[in-house]
Amino acid sequence: MSRLGHIRAYPAASLVADETAVHAEPEPAPLPVTKSQPGGFLNARMSGLGAYAPPEIRTNNYFERTVNVSDEWIVRRTGIRERRICRPGTPSSELAAEAGRRAIKGCGISPAEIDVIIVATTTPDMIFPSTACLVQHKLECRGAWGFDLSAACSGFLFGMQVAVQFIKTGGLQRALVIGVDVMSSITDYSDPSTCILFGDGAGAALIESADEQDDCVFIDSLNEGDGSWANSLELPAGGSLHPASHETVARKMHFVRQDGGAIFKYSVCRLAQLCQRLLERNNLTMSDVKLFVPHQGNMRIMAAVADRLHLRSNQVMVNIDKFGNTGAATIPLALQSAVDEHRLNRGDLVLLAAVGAGMTVGATLLRWFH
Ligand SMILES: CC(C)(COP(=O)(O)OP(=O)(O)OC[C@H]1O[C@@H](n2cnc3c(N)ncnc32)[C@H](O)[C@@H]1OP(=O)(O)O)[C@@H](O)C(=O)NCCC(=O)NCCS
Repeated sequence: MSRLGHIRAYPAASLVADETAVHAEPEPAPLPVTKSQPGGFLNARMSGLGAYAPPEIRTNNYFERTVNVSDEWIVRRTGIRERRICRPGTPSSELAAEAGRRAIKGCGISPAEIDVIIVATTTPDMIFPSTACLVQHKLECRGAWGFDLSAACSGFLFGMQVAVQFIKTGGLQRALVIGVDVMSSITDYSDPSTCILFGDGAGAALIESADEQDDCVFIDSLNEGDGSWANSLELPAGGSLHPASHETVARKMHFVRQDGGAIFKYSVCRLAQLCQRLLERNNLTMSDVKLFVPHQGNMRIMAAVADRLHLRSNQVMVNIDKFGNTGAATIPLALQSAVDEHRLNRGDLVLLAAVGAGMTVGATLLRWFH
């Protein structure tokens, strides 16, 4: 008898029968009629938005007490007044699932209709399984696949770009893109140059194929990465280069490290250039933009970018005063704040722009969906 002789050979038909039993799902609905772009591609639109930040508020007074940085300094140099901080041990998947639930709610679809879940995060629950799988389970998105996307604060825009491409090529109908970060889990609260900046939060967008009449669609995106800047913003340990050890813990290598001044200048320059290029290649100008929603890293970075782009202050969405820098969550959280403040109407041209570790930078143009 061969060494594999103990394995029973099943007839092909019984395998088919077993698979049918495991995957006894209803047939997927046929694709809706979709509007073609020149070149035969479909259009994609945002059809739902949701955000969640933990209820616990940490004001600047905390840092006056702990690292001797005054409220006045933090407000003047960053624009931040308070941020939300999770209870210790709260996983990113918990925030992400709540944001996802809110994005789906009101769209008239069931979680089982989502094809793919993309979670942009630098604070996954763990290295594996992916936070996307944990969210898939929490939201009961039966049959959906997904993955985590690592592009730091640009991750939400990169994730939307990936989702839009899936939909434009007709491969998938519906994607849930989530930006989430529990920055408090990777922040050294004895380092005044970083700990004042960050907060926790999550935001999610449902992205679907657009129907024939819909003009409120994604228009274009530009994304870039430049690894020569890798050391300017990093969390050095816990990966294959520096696996966790007593030494990495003792040297605080599991916390965010940054060259704040270098990032400041990179952000101002690259964000402004990328936005300008994106508008130009779509024959649009800043005066066409209803709302510019930048990554909320520092109020002065946003002001400098707006200045370079000749934007009026009422064209710029700012919520850093309430949330700080929430990593991959800042763009959807800022969009949610814009909705809550009634600053967006159907058809408005929205320009999103983010910058993050890598360095990475991205810009996206879309027409608002409701
Ligand atoms: C950490 C931080 C709060 C420290 O604040 P600060 O000490 O007041 O920073 P500075 O005012 O010195 O500004 C940093 C640099 O930007 C430059 N800068 C200031 N305003 C600028 C502007 N409008 N355009 C271009 N550069 C500008 C400053 O000249 C300085 O450069 P220098 O050190 O060569 O002189 C600030 O540097 C910061 O927020 N950096 C970005 C951090 C960040 O966003 N991290 C996460 C990225 S996702």
